[in-house]
Amino acid sequence: MKVFVSGGAGYIGGVVVSQLVAAGHEAVVYDNLRNGHPDSVPSAARLVVGDVGDRAKLCEIFAEFQPEAVMHFAASIEAGESMRDPAKFFRNNTANALTLLETILSHKVRCLVFSSTAALYGDPVSIPIRESDRLLPINAYGESKLLVERMLGWFHRIHGLSYASLRYFNAAGATENLGERHDPESHLIPIILQVASGLREYVSIFGDDYDTLDGTCVRDYVHVSDLASAHLLALHALHSRPEPTQLIYNLGNGHGFSVREVIECARRVTGRAIPAVVEARRTGDPAILVAGSEKIRAELGWTPQYPGLEQIVRSAWEYIQRGKQGD
Ligand SMILES: NC(=O)c1ccc[n+]([C@@H]2O[C@H](COP(=O)([O-])OP(=O)(O)OC[C@H]3O[C@@H](n4cnc5c(N)ncnc54)[C@H](O)[C@@H]3O)[C@@H](O)[C@H]2O)c1
Repeated sequence: MKVFVSGGAGYIGGVVVSQLVAAGHEAVVYDNLRNGHPDSVPSAARLVVGDVGDRAKLCEIFAEFQPEAVMHFAASIEAGESMRDPAKFFRNNTANALTLLETILSHKVRCLVFSSTAALYGDPVSIPIRESDRLLPINAYGESKLLVERMLGWFHRIHGLSYASLRYFNAAGATENLGERHDPESHLIPIILQVASGLREYVSIFGDDYDTLDGTCVRDYVHVSDLASAHLLALHALHSRPEPTQLIYNLGNGHGFSVREVIECARRVTGRAIPAVVEARRTGDPAILVAGSEKIRAELGWTPQYPGLEQIVRSAWEYIQRGKQGD
């Protein structure tokens, strides 16, 4: 299949593109490289530097490449920043997604896989979170993505768009060649490993007075390769069903780990001390986010290969130690 991948030079997109080309698909990565890395794009894929907000360029690439499917990863991703600069998120995540959707429709592309997020749920009503639970984001990042999910629902109903919305919990870990390289880094595991590597003095724990076992926030971590395999399953499911299809899935392991537990795990894996300092809570952080992913397991046969936190942290640590990027 010919697949157009926005944001494919980023952390998750890069791993998905590697799996796509390994499975024999043709991929064009479309990325403005604001947070992406050209060496995250495998040499078997083509990289086009462009912005999803640039309608003319999108149309040019769609006309030339004639994709059969689109995967949309490009977004601004830091929830904390979204509470300081919401307009950036509504522009990049919501308005630009609409531009991409219009391009998809005008070029008669039938299938889309969208990077959604656990942030849609806000403070969950029950744990584990199910796809049918209330959607009530408590940060502008989550809202910017929820608006896209709502648009997708209407485009499905009105235009027959087939789409999968994959609600990732915390993506983590690394493959042999690709790992997390956000700048600035806001995700817990890479920050902890920067401390272990001597690149930071300590890791901040934002709040230790949450209603959790040790008072720190609890999250569900899913390995980036397992996320990627879910994208290929979703793509295949959409493509193989002739009728307009709507798939909405959580992607997590169903186990929650507190910030302190993740730090402890990293201390075991790295053998380093990893100092931690408790700071004030951040706005927009729910206490617990843990996924129920039975739906995608049952319907598409998704089976994570790295369900354990220690495996995930170890893969990220080994990647850092190899100091290797790209293929
Ligand atoms: N990392 C996580 O834990 C996580 C969790 C839930 C959802 N997500 C979603 O997954 C997707 C990928 O996340 P990631 O961690 O790989 O982030 P990332 O920042 O590594 O990748 C995003 C990529 O999109 C590109 N990009 C951003 N805006 C663009 C634009 N307007 N035009 C073209 N390219 C643009 C960036 O340059 C970058 O390469 C995002 O949509 C994010 O919201 C990530």
